[in-house]
Amino acid sequence: MEKLWVIDLGSQYSLLIARRVRELGVYAELVPWNRLPSQIPPEVKGIIFSGSYASVSEGPPLPQAWIGERPVLAICYGAQWIAVHQGGRVAESTLREYGPAQIEVLDQASPLWKGLPISQRVWMSHSDTIVQLPVGAQVSARSETIPYAAYEIPDKQVYAVQFHPEVTHTEYGEAILRNFLYNVCNFSGTWRAEALIEEIVAQLQASMPEGVAVGALSGGVDSTVAALLVHKAIGSRFQGFFVDTGLLREGETEEVMQVYQQLGLPVQLVQAEDLFLRALQGITDPEQKRKTIGRLFIEVFEREASRLHDVRYLVQGTIYPDVVESGTGVSALIKSHHNVGGLPEKLRLGLVEPLRLFFKDEVRALGRRLGLSESFLGRHPFPGPGLAVRILGEVTRERIARLRRADALFIQTLREWGWYEKIWQAFAVLLPVRSVGVAGDQRIYGEVIALRAVQSSDGMTAQPSPLPHELMEESATRVLAEVPDIARVVYDLSTKPPATIEWE
Ligand code: XMP
Repeated sequence: MEKLWVIDLGSQYSLLIARRVRELGVYAELVPWNRLPSQIPPEVKGIIFSGSYASVSEGPPLPQAWIGERPVLAICYGAQWIAVHQGGRVAESTLREYGPAQIEVLDQASPLWKGLPISQRVWMSHSDTIVQLPVGAQVSARSETIPYAAYEIPDKQVYAVQFHPEVTHTEYGEAILRNFLYNVCNFSGTWRAEALIEEIVAQLQASMPEGVAVGALSGGVDSTVAALLVHKAIGSRFQGFFVDTGLLREGETEEVMQVYQQLGLPVQLVQAEDLFLRALQGITDPEQKRKTIGRLFIEVFEREASRLHDVRYLVQGTIYPDVVESGTGVSALIKSHHNVGGLPEKLRLGLVEPLRLFFKDEVRALGRRLGLSESFLGRHPFPGPGLAVRILGEVTRERIARLRRADALFIQTLREWGWYEKIWQAFAVLLPVRSVGVAGDQRIYGEVIALRAVQSSDGMTAQPSPLPHELMEESATRVLAEVPDIARVVYDLSTKPPATIEWE
């Protein structure tokens, strides 16, 4: 299968480059600079050198011998490194260019700039600058502040840009990447995640010739798609478990179990509410809550799995960003899931992660092809420790019931207003603060519900959703009218950072 390598030199954008390339129909893999093989495999038809956190004088080295072997798109640090090591010069710039810049394309005949306008807005982020081009290079774009915003070494198939085509702030970034993939590297562009299902299934069959595979399903897209693939591969030798911790949202257990049933997935419901709630009694420290839940989850899962005969594999829904973020790069084997971390070692099971090379949108595409409905695919993310991270203070049955109801009313209101699909994640939080209110003729001293709705693309950063005021008012009115012992409803306006999405 033809592929593109993104050599990760430590830029915050490396993963984004791979994602953009895949969106353009070419399979891209991230390869950390310190794990490069000595040879470029034949299926690699093009290479992108990413930017870096460092400056060229002290940053990671590039494989010099590869220059000229394959078409290269060198971004930011990559562009500077090649300049320095091919006879040019880079100097510390007097001004740190960060943000939008206007460039002028000087060579519209170049395959990289084909069909694009002369004047373009790009995103710059650099403090060093190229002051002398490398040998055999010609400049292909300049900005008001730098003479070499882009250059090419045609003999060596090197295309270098000082700016970042992978970020959306670069007006024609996608077109530049497309030109590189199709005009320079001649990719066929037929890659689609969902076309790989048969191949993944065949690989799974080969890797699990006998024995039983188990997996903990959370009701989320990743674990469900991973389970569907494994089930397709080994049929009844797969057994899934859905643990009802008592910390799930209103109606969630029934809803999710029904989906599994419709899909024909063998998933056993494990009722463990009493166990979890008993263990959480009296705990108010958030870290201790998380630890208690994590430990119990492992115990429950282990107990259930040990009832089966010949269990050999553990299926997890780890996806590509998790693998990369775990800091071990593409050759990493294990990234333990929030919920079942520690299980593989304890149970001595082979870890099966069919989604470890896929991005979230690709997992959704796989799920769609495997029969998941749009409403299931569009469910908001939900944390492993469940409502416990949304109940500040002690987790009790009464407080869970209160939060569940408030959360359901808020979500229902968002759905009725057509806002549910427009936001990344929305939920209610229960605060251990008492304030005064009036219920009927009675003065009450009730708790506070905070409503949170955020826009985000990956959960790493987030902005509060600009919900219509009337929607917020309606949500608040419903919560105050229907949930006992709530005296006040507030809306959380914090961005992440500095706040986080969840409250605990
Ligand atoms: P924060 O609160 O860190 O959340 O801004 C970012 C995203 O991660 C989810 N989240 C979790 N997911 N286990 C999970 O599976 C957890 O412990 C956990 N904590 C936060 C959160 O819902 C948001 O989507």
